[in-house]
Amino acid sequence: MQHGQSRVQSLLINPDAHPDLPTAKAAAAAASAANLNIDDIQGDVLIGMKKNKELFYFFSIANARVFKRKLATDILLLITTTTQLLSVSTQPLTAHTIAFSQTGLKTLGVTDDLGDPAYAGGQFADLGNLGDPGSTNWVPEFKGTNIHGVLLFASDTEHNIHAAVAHLDAVLGNCVTKVYTLDGAARPGKEAGHEHFGFLDGISNPAVKGYESPVPGQAVVEPGTLLLGETGDTVKRPAWAKNGSFLVFRQLKQLVPEFNKFLTDNPIVKPGVLTPQQGSDLLGARMMGRWKSGAPVDLAPLFDDPALGADPTRNNNFTFVHPDVALATDQTRCPFSAHIRKTRPRADLGTPEEAVHHIMRAGTPYGPEVSDHEAATHTTSTERGLAFVAYQSNISNGFHFLQKAWADNANFVHAGTGVDPIIGALAGAQRVVSGLDPTDPTKTLTLTTDFIVSRGGEYFFAPSLSAISGTLAV
Ligand code: HEM
Repeated sequence: MQHGQSRVQSLLINPDAHPDLPTAKAAAAAASAANLNIDDIQGDVLIGMKKNKELFYFFSIANARVFKRKLATDILLLITTTTQLLSVSTQPLTAHTIAFSQTGLKTLGVTDDLGDPAYAGGQFADLGNLGDPGSTNWVPEFKGTNIHGVLLFASDTEHNIHAAVAHLDAVLGNCVTKVYTLDGAARPGKEAGHEHFGFLDGISNPAVKGYESPVPGQAVVEPGTLLLGETGDTVKRPAWAKNGSFLVFRQLKQLVPEFNKFLTDNPIVKPGVLTPQQGSDLLGARMMGRWKSGAPVDLAPLFDDPALGADPTRNNNFTFVHPDVALATDQTRCPFSAHIRKTRPRADLGTPEEAVHHIMRAGTPYGPEVSDHEAATHTTSTERGLAFVAYQSNISNGFHFLQKAWADNANFVHAGTGVDPIIGALAGAQRVVSGLDPTDPTKTLTLTTDFIVSRGGEYFFAPSLSAISGTLAV
């Protein structure tokens, strides 16, 4: 058994461009001043996109009585807290996170209303709101409400993860049925931290008051934006739900060779300034709002600036406001439709920035690197993508809102902006996007392919450790 062994190197990755996690000492001091119990909050909620290897284990509960007993004894001991993750010396070999769907809680006999209609209905019932073209592309196991929970295993080696899964399988015996698993991993070598299209991810996650200090430009949120029952959460919750968080899981397949072909076929043309390759790179950067290095196009409008991308004190320090241009019309720097502008419009909606729509993204890429054959034929033959995970205290304000009201809404942030060219989806219909060409912002591009295909997912609740011992396991 691996529990209890100590580690010598972190199980997490820490790309230069990411703000560092707080030290355990600094987090403890901040949390104590803010009365936030980070020993009670599951570690994954506040850690962000720093997973090296991660396995998602979706299960249904076959015997609730036995499962509850195991939850109180063996499983509770395995769950990793926030504090534990902040020092290498206290990190386990494999970090464990557990979360339950609405049907999972009911199976455990917990019938309290958590106050989130999207969670209560489950993601399958919500797919019509998310732009998915029905459930044809959904992983069959995600259809319906049969998944009761998910366990997330995170470590720096597959060996550790497989040992942890084998241990848990032995502990659980047949009180649980394994419904589906997905293996995630940071991409190899210098691509670590980059999602499969090649862009560095996990740069802009919110800083939580009472836990960490923000880097310049980072959104600062009340703990209640992510955690139920904390300051900033305005919904009535059962007392035991305090310090839990809703975990949105989506398996988002990425058509990487097809995306690359689209960029090659549609370079931004600036004769004498950009080569065709640079024009294609610029189009990709404008669709995302950041270059592959992480540098924001708002601060590096024509060419990538890797030093800017790698510097967490500068790479988030922008609001789209510039003294020489009008915020409401100018797209020479960052298009209104860019993924990062759609999902965090910064000063577009006024200052101070709205507070309630921030999420903590904590996903991990899955699937292999693009093969030579796939690159040559511009066609995906093996699935890869993002095992998208987002934490928030309110799914209707968080993931669901960002996807529906902003990314899929052609008239956000201004009439005629078009949908988010990365994640925007219109139930399979072609997507029209404007503003991508800095030389002619009125020009539109029609995207006939969804480069991201939803394979479905589920809405879960990641309870605090005291809720597991005091309510769920009882
Ligand atoms: C395969 C799917 C996706 C890919 C490849 C992707 C990629 C990226 C990248 C490269 C960034 C910039 C790096 C950063 O700021 O951390 C980013 C930022 C972001 N993404 Fe995504 N993303 C995906 C899905 C989603 C979904 C489904 C949502 C929510 C509905 C979302 C919400 C956000 C948010 C809120 C930000 C930060 C914006 C900011 O604070 O400036 N993403 N994404």
